[in-house]
Amino acid sequence: MPNSDTSTASVSTGPGNRRDSDLVRAARRQPVSRTPVWFMRQAGRSLPEYRAVREGIPMLESCTRPELVTEITLQPVRRHGVDAAIFFSDIVVPLKAIGVDLDIVAGVGPVVARPIRHRRDLDQLVELTPDHVPYITAAVRQLVAELGPTPLIGFAGAPFTLASYLVEGGPSKNHEHTKAMMYGDPELWEALCARLAQISGAFLRVQAEAGASAVQLFDSWVGALSRADYVRHVQRHSAAALAAVSDLDVPRIHFGVGTGELLRLMGEAGADVVGVDFRVSLADAVERLGPGYAVQGNLDPALLFAPWEAIERRVREIVEEGWQAPGHIFNLGHGVPPNVDPDVLTRVTALVHEVSTR
Ligand code: CP3
Repeated sequence: MPNSDTSTASVSTGPGNRRDSDLVRAARRQPVSRTPVWFMRQAGRSLPEYRAVREGIPMLESCTRPELVTEITLQPVRRHGVDAAIFFSDIVVPLKAIGVDLDIVAGVGPVVARPIRHRRDLDQLVELTPDHVPYITAAVRQLVAELGPTPLIGFAGAPFTLASYLVEGGPSKNHEHTKAMMYGDPELWEALCARLAQISGAFLRVQAEAGASAVQLFDSWVGALSRADYVRHVQRHSAAALAAVSDLDVPRIHFGVGTGELLRLMGEAGADVVGVDFRVSLADAVERLGPGYAVQGNLDPALLFAPWEAIERRVREIVEEGWQAPGHIFNLGHGVPPNVDPDVLTRVTALVHEVSTR
């Protein structure tokens, strides 16, 4: 399908070439025809069409059905006209695939039957190979065929965030058991994170090899750490996960929540793009990161519930600030809230495109 955007005369966007899409170009700090936009958790409960197709199918089972994964991934692309699809799956899918006894409980999140607290518990974590996740390869291939020129973003959870679910046994506010292991038994922590880095990296690689145009490493909860602890206990493991796709032609996005102090370190772990939550302005993020990175973000998801005038003002500011970065991908500062009015996301997408068209 030819690239229908005619406003790109000065930009050599080849017809239907995803590598020349605005999303990939922004990630690579190349000129774009307009600021690309997508939303973390754009597929999901905010969409009635999602709730309809998921009816009666448990979350983790839905992730193993390529037809359903394809449909759900495409829903927000069709509805909002966003510049990228995010693969419909979950950060715990590769753990489930290698046999970890866990489930995703609605309204709670991932819950692990046998939390990892001792060395013997590591036996649950075997090496992930593509054979563990044939349904991921199948779904990515099908999606890439159906998406045409729209790029697909693959993703994985980063070692710290995965470790938190595995060690706590479920979602946690303060990550007490996780930190107790990190500080109290650094050797066990090291062994755990090394295994998780392999799993996370292999999961990214499966998606990139099947045709994803970019990947995002979600370290949602790593903002709970100081810079020193991030360097000492986490950074090299996230770097190892990202390095698993460094020989493939896919830009890498690295995102966390509350990571204002860690932005530079997260970039140095091997990212092309650093995700910024709403607590730090893009202008500050650019200053902290230096010229070597594109940024992604950072509309506060709570603002989606404000009157349109307030949203519009902030969207315009973020687009302006994004121009100070060597590359900018518009997104929220965290995921789409399930109870948001999806029409607001459609309007935000159109507004970003309108005000950023060069
Ligand atoms: O649209 C997309 O972003 C693609 C799909 C996606 C999901 N999970 C689907 C999902 C992605 C990228 C994720 C990543 C994920 N999963 C993260 C990192 C992103 C973030 O939010 O920080 C984390 C921490 C998880 C763990 C997890 N899985 C949580 C906290 C939850 C929510 C539990 C709840 O019900 O509130 C899940 C379940 C989940 N993952 C849902 C979806 C659409 C909801 C399940 C449902 O619809 O029944």
